[in-house]
Order: sequence, then structure tokens, then C-alpha cells
Amino acid sequence: MSAHKIIIAIDGFSSCGKSTLAKQLAAKLGYNYIDSGAMYRAITLYFLRNGIHVNDHEQILDALSNIHLSFVFNEQRQQSDIYLNEEDVEPYIRDLIVAEKVSEVAAIKEVRSFAVAQQKKMGKKKGIVMDGRDIGTVVFPEAELKVFMTADPDIRVLRRYDELVANNPNITIEEVRHNLELRDYIDSNREESPLRKADDAITLDNSNLTREEQLEKVLEWVKDRATNVVAK
Ligand code: CDP
Repeated sequence: MSAHKIIIAIDGFSSCGKSTLAKQLAAKLGYNYIDSGAMYRAITLYFLRNGIHVNDHEQILDALSNIHLSFVFNEQRQQSDIYLNEEDVEPYIRDLIVAEKVSEVAAIKEVRSFAVAQQKKMGKKKGIVMDGRDIGTVVFPEAELKVFMTADPDIRVLRRYDELVANNPNITIEEVRHNLELRDYIDSNREESPLRKADDAITLDNSNLTREEQLEKVLEWVKDRATNVVAK
């Protein structure tokens, strides 16, 4: 594959397999993988722990000034864990209690500016795969490759249920379905950078693709974009 590094932006609805694809690409290409959703989840965890109200502007600004986020590579997981003020919060941010609040927190203008400013800096050297909701539209509108992922809603619910039930045996499929539908609704309808497909993004429906098939497909697109970059 070309040595010329590009930015790969992956956006889409909840639980479409964005992070799976992003991790596959990063491993294959030797790129950094950044899970932008983990940042919104970590901020939400801070808000929950400290009783921050989503409509209290002063409180939100104060909270953000006390939040420091960083990604630290975890050898065991072979991917980065997110740290909230020096604490590895990876074990807590996937809980349903965070998932139930995260879209409300991520819709706040100040929260988005805070996260987006950091995300933009991470792309300075290229060679990055970032997944989220506004990566191709707002964070990296200049990304050489933008993928917009979709998958059948029933398949998405089952995939997320399988992930969550391991740590939470009492969770129900209906709870998971409700959370995904609610987040997709809020994420798509918020005022600040709503989830939408960038005009120059390629749609990837992975409902019936294996992990290997999806990787093969996207690597072709990477090859194409990286070669075009070199030719420019
Ligand atoms: O893994 P999943 O697709 O379910 O969600 P996530 O990527 O962990 O993102 C959690 C939530 O953070 C989303 O539902 C959005 O509300 C928010 N988010 C966002 O607003 N913008 C991003 N770039 C990434 C996540």
C-alpha cells in the first residue's frame, strides 16, 4: 500500500460497525485509530459523576475547563484507551447509563467545540482513521477518504446486544433497541453538526458483509485515494 498517508473519516449511525472497520484499517495501514465517540462518552461520564446539568451553561463551561482527555495505547487490547483526567475510563464509558445520556451531552455546542478542536489537532500529521458522526462533515472536511456506514437496524441491535450482554447479563434486546433508536434520532436532528452523509462520502452497507469483505472493499478505496494524493 502507498506510503503516502491520508485521513480516513468514518461516520454513520450507532452500532454500524464503524469502530470494527476503523480498527481493521488502522492495523492494516499502520495508522492511528481515534474513537471520537469515546470522547463524548468520557465527557458524559464526568457530567454524570459530577451532576452537571445539560442546560446550565456556566456549569458546563466550568466542567469542560476541568476535563482533560487523552488516548493511551493499551498493549493488551492493541488499541487506545481513553483517559479522563489521568483515569482510564474505558471500562465505564460503554455502560448503558452513559449511552442513555451521551447524545444529549454531545448535542451541546460547547461540548462539541471542545471535542472537535482536539480531534482536528490529531489529524495534523495525517495517517489517521477517525470514526464518529461529524468526522467527514465538520472535523475533517478535507479527508481524502470518507465512508458513511449503514446496516440493517435489526442487525445493529443484535450486534450491540451481543457486545453489552457479556458485562451486563440483565440487559434486554428492547433496552438496546430503544437506546440505538433514541441516539440515532437525537444525533440526526440536533442543531449542532447533525449526523449526515458528507456529499463526497461513499456509502458502505455492511449488513451482509463479513469483516474480511468490508476491509477488502475499503482498502481498494484507500489505494485509490492514496494514489490520487501522490499524483496531485
Ligand atoms: O459505538 P456507537 O456508534 O454506538 O457510538 P459512539 O461512536 O461511541 O458515540 C456515542 C455518541 O457520541 C453518539 O451517539 C453521539 O451522540 C456522540 N458522537 C457525536 O456526537 N459525534 C461524534 N463524532 C462521535 C460520537
